[in-house]
Amino acid sequence: MANLDQLKQQFVELYGGSDNEIRVYHAPGRVNLIGEHTDYNGGYVFPAALTFGTTLLLRPRPDRMLALASTNFELRGLLSLDAIVYDKKDDWMNYPKGIVNELHQRGVQLSSGFELLYHGEIPNGSGLSSSASIEVVTAYALLHAAGLPIDTVEIAKLAQRSENEFNGVQCGIMDQFAVANGRKDHAILLMCDTLEYDLIPFQPGAYKLVIGNTNKRRGLVDSKYNERRSECERAVADLRTAFPELTLLGQLSLEQFNANKHLIADETVRRRAQHVVEEIGRVLQSIEVLKAGDLAAFGSLMNGSHDSLRDLYEVTGKELDAMVEAARTIDGVLGSRMTGAGFGGCTVSLVHENAVEQFKSEVGRKYTEATGLIADFYVCSIGNGVEELA
Ligand code: GLA
Repeated sequence: MANLDQLKQQFVELYGGSDNEIRVYHAPGRVNLIGEHTDYNGGYVFPAALTFGTTLLLRPRPDRMLALASTNFELRGLLSLDAIVYDKKDDWMNYPKGIVNELHQRGVQLSSGFELLYHGEIPNGSGLSSSASIEVVTAYALLHAAGLPIDTVEIAKLAQRSENEFNGVQCGIMDQFAVANGRKDHAILLMCDTLEYDLIPFQPGAYKLVIGNTNKRRGLVDSKYNERRSECERAVADLRTAFPELTLLGQLSLEQFNANKHLIADETVRRRAQHVVEEIGRVLQSIEVLKAGDLAAFGSLMNGSHDSLRDLYEVTGKELDAMVEAARTIDGVLGSRMTGAGFGGCTVSLVHENAVEQFKSEVGRKYTEATGLIADFYVCSIGNGVEELA
């Protein structure tokens, strides 16, 4: 967690005045435990909020200007609330701008401007949802400071829309939802079609969630992500011969899918769809085994998820595969998989507390041998979704 006194001091150095009226908000990053590439198919996901994320310091100002600064980037901005447009040059500031734009589109009137200072603790481009964290903390803070009603499900929806429409990234709802609605020591079982959700206790006792950052630049992620989305749409189009009302793969049971998958003309598209339908099943099985306290079975489902993302969905790549393979050689590892969009980013493993040190050193060494890259590891706990900090 960031040092708040220090951040307040930085805020005052930047914007002047005293720290009396500064309000502080925090939104986490997220890790997805299982259920990958299912959200935009209307399926289940099972993410959890991390304890680190984005801290936002805010103070109202009397005019209608928005002052933006970050401890992570040099780039700062001063813009009118009434003239918000996307500009590539504005880089990270397009995330808060997208939120203001989306609030406007929804008819939310912000009656004054604000001074904002962001402090991010999520490694950039790691696939732990730093952009969703900025978006959600901004939406929450602006609404809260303006005394407007707050609904964290609505915040997730508006943050996703701003990412889709304003920033042009075709993500699903999972990241924004987890960041907005997470709860300490719980993972979220979310049905992405209806947004019904359940907070499921996740306290794995002697086991730790260890995130491994491949530090591989996620170069192809946007184009390949969109390609996977359209492959899923093609599968739906072909399956409509049997199910005329079908709009999303998540609406099919595994039995229905298996009995009709021959209708999908393209073999690659068929494999993509197979992953989606089976992965949704793995999420539901995970809930069952976790309720029964069977962590080893959950670990096997994590492994199954990664293998399917590697073989059927083909979004892992050599770095994620090397890290997962190394992780699975360590005694005390129940399961290991990629998390997030893939093509780089992070893995998540369930590791016995006595094996964590060995995990870091051996997986780190083997990963470097295989890829020439240096990994980072974070032993993580599950934290809360967006909130105001006292
Ligand atoms: C990214 C997207 C999410 C989700 C995952 C894959 O994190 O932002 O919406 O699609 O990839 O599960």
